[in-house]
Amino acid sequence: MRPVLTAQPITPSIGAEIDNIDVRALNNDQIECIRQSLDRYQLILLRDQELDLDSLCAFSARFGELMALPYISPIPSHPNVIRVLKEAEEIDMGVFGGEWHSDFSFLAQPPSTSILYARDVPAVGGDTLWANMVEAYRTLPESIGSQLENSLAVHAGTPYGVKNAPDPEQQFKGSIQIDRNNPEADKETMHPLICRHPDTGEKMLFINPTYTIRIDGCAEAESKALLDNLFQHCMRPEICCRIRWRPGTLALWDNRRTMHYAVNDYDGRRREMWRTTLKGHAPLAATS
Ligand code: SIN
Repeated sequence: MRPVLTAQPITPSIGAEIDNIDVRALNNDQIECIRQSLDRYQLILLRDQELDLDSLCAFSARFGELMALPYISPIPSHPNVIRVLKEAEEIDMGVFGGEWHSDFSFLAQPPSTSILYARDVPAVGGDTLWANMVEAYRTLPESIGSQLENSLAVHAGTPYGVKNAPDPEQQFKGSIQIDRNNPEADKETMHPLICRHPDTGEKMLFINPTYTIRIDGCAEAESKALLDNLFQHCMRPEICCRIRWRPGTLALWDNRRTMHYAVNDYDGRRREMWRTTLKGHAPLAATS
């Protein structure tokens, strides 16, 4: 049977675009088609959408249960939406998401999916990159893959905590409302370093440079060297894509199988996005 919508890949590795739809008026078959495309491409872009906060929430809720985020103040009228905002005059400062990460991996149940809607973006700059963590796993040297098969990675909410907080100059500031220096965010959570995707069954690396602080049971230097190597391996351009936003672009990504990175190259220009996030489950070990 012909698919009800057609997704055009953006790169061979990750990302696809579905054109000519209005997400406010999709039937269940079309939603199912977007869901299947997300399973296949990990990141889906829908251009030229005209959404308000209610319609963004309504669309998001068709893919799962919305969640409120810890440590970030939501838009007051919509507790499940955050505004990712950098004003033009906010210069020489970090930006929210401006380091490779998967969203809130330090939670016991990290989000399954994130949805970002571009409201106001620079004519040039402010792109976002994504990396395919299934492909990162698949292309690991076999000896490293089997060495790590049963390892646990330790995650913590470093930007929000005290113990591992980044230097003040490297912290993202600006208009986004963040709760910092919260000892609760120092709490460590362990997840399998190699996980199995609950829907597709694929194996993937589940680590990221923002929240993964060490490998359980490894000496500090060994853990750091191994993680640094793995992070470099995950950021190879061959398994990444880079998206240029336009006002009205809506992106959905699978947070379990990807990392992403907001490029902070647009000082002097305003960028405003709305973000919703969907609840997930505890990551499954690849061996399960
Ligand atoms: C995020 O990490 O969710 C923000 C990404 C972006 O602003 O491009």
